Amino acid sequence: MPNISDFVATSYDRVPYKSQPFRQSHPDRLAVIATLHGMSPSPIERARVLELGCASGGNLLPIADQFPEGTFLGVDLSSRQIQDGQRLIEQAGLKNVELRHQDILAFDAPADSFDYILCHGVFL
Ligand SMILES: C[S@@+](CC[C@H](N)C(=O)[O-])C[C@H]1O[C@@H](n2cnc3c(N)ncnc32)[C@H](O)[C@@H]1O
Repeated sequence: MPNISDFVATSYDRVPYKSQPFRQSHPDRLAVIATLHGMSPSPIERARVLELGCASGGNLLPIADQFPEGTFLGVDLSSRQIQDGQRLIEQAGLKNVELRHQDILAFDAPADSFDYILCHGVFL
């Protein structure tokens, strides 16, 4: 019997999600909210941004384009969506963003690797 990750990957490979910008997750907005809560968020212009469950990058790629000095990593379980996004990166000539085919449950990174972590619409 396939596990839940296999099922999710296959279903989004078969029917890709319509990936588009989701303004609530923009680092600009997150930085404002963090500031209002007394935090000192990193400047968004050079931020290191991770998006978990990025689909084909419809949210992440426009932000990467907006902030060429930032670095962006998107992770998603669906290889088809990741490949679609990688084609878009190529076509747009973006140099500061990577999309990675991986289960976020297996994603690991050193502490303090990212200034902003976005995750929307991913149910585990
Ligand atoms: C409903 S879509 C949301 C896409 C995007 N975050 C948005 O809000 O527009 C859910 C996405 O999460 C991804 N996903 C679900 N479980 C995952 C997992 N364990 N690891 C990586 N990606 C996962 C799916 O492949 C799919 O692209």
